Amino acid sequence: MEKMAEINRQWLLRRRPTSNVTADDFEYSETSIPDSSSLRPGELILRNLLFLCAPTMRNWMEPPGNSLYPSIAIGDPVMAPAACEVVASAREGVPVGMRVTAFTSWQDYQRIAADHPVTPVPDGLSVTDIMTTYGLNARTAYFGLLKVGKPRAGDTLVVSGAAGSTGSVAAQIGKIMGCRVIGIAGGARKCAWLTGECGLDAAVDYRSGDFEGKLRELCPDGIDIFYDNVGGDILQAAIENMAKFGRIILCGQIATYTEGGPARGPNNMMRLIYGSVTMQGFLQADYADETDAALKQLRQWVDQGLIVHRADIRPGFERIPQTFAALFEGGNEGTLLAAVN
Ligand SMILES: NC(=O)c1ccc[n+]([C@@H]2O[C@H](COP(=O)([O-])OP(=O)(O)OC[C@H]3O[C@@H](n4cnc5c(N)ncnc54)[C@H](OP(=O)(O)O)[C@@H]3O)[C@@H](O)[C@H]2O)c1
Repeated sequence: MEKMAEINRQWLLRRRPTSNVTADDFEYSETSIPDSSSLRPGELILRNLLFLCAPTMRNWMEPPGNSLYPSIAIGDPVMAPAACEVVASAREGVPVGMRVTAFTSWQDYQRIAADHPVTPVPDGLSVTDIMTTYGLNARTAYFGLLKVGKPRAGDTLVVSGAAGSTGSVAAQIGKIMGCRVIGIAGGARKCAWLTGECGLDAAVDYRSGDFEGKLRELCPDGIDIFYDNVGGDILQAAIENMAKFGRIILCGQIATYTEGGPARGPNNMMRLIYGSVTMQGFLQADYADETDAALKQLRQWVDQGLIVHRADIRPGFERIPQTFAALFEGGNEGTLLAAVN
């Protein structure tokens, strides 16, 4: 077993946030590191290296009842998807030194129960790769667009949250599929990145005036596929502009996560009836069996220069709450990771 630090730093959920998270919602704590001499068969001790800042973690901070994952208990370390190194192992096939991804929590070290899954980082990829270019969000974009959206060459594809981790990959896969792709993002800088490096056909800043008018102008024949990461007013604007037989892919609703409780729904569903429009939610995990195929295809596209990826890696254990908060202010440029150091 490798030499471990003396203390185990933690960020605990102190209270349930009421809007975006603030530093006061969390409490810094120090405990002793888990005892490796008492590991039972199947258990592990992991050292956390990178935490993915996933918007849906804000839903896990809500009271129990409306989240796919269990609500984080007050006083518990904040659960997060992570890349880790195995530092002690009583599990066959998972040796000390192996790099894995797992659901852990905001602390240096994590004792992992025998029935808690961990996934080895695939050969040839670094822990950063598997959390960014080939991470959960890239795979989400791949499955959401291809399996749910079923893009065809010539389709007009609109992606919200387009400059983000999931959205930027969905938009670029749309280009590979021969779609005309329009990204929606906050601010001129993100829009310029989308039409520049990502090669999108157009981008619209939802924070600038008359957003819906601009969207309508860019989609004179309507939207064939709307890949939605945001919900709220942006989803509503898309509903008003869908083409006949259009498909709406419900990937996420980040605009509503900080409101608490179930997200408000869109209105004017008659638009969907008149347009024979399909609206379908999905989870990345629905396609877990196809992860290897997705990774293989993504690697090929990245190697061919068809997908560019931006990672926004912020070091500093002490800053994890502030790093996470950036998601809801549009402060991140690409996949937002908190690096443990
Ligand atoms: N279904 C699934 O299995 C699955 C899996 C992973 C992620 N997701 C969902 O995918 C979405 C994107 O997640 P991500 O991890 O890739 O995050 P991300 O897009 O990298 O970062 C979040 C971005 O959302 C935008 N945003 C924040 N608040 C907003 C608001 N009120 N209105 C409009 N835009 C807002 C900001 O960009 P701007 O600067 O452009 O505003 C921010 O940078 C989330 O809704 C997430 O829950 C779903």
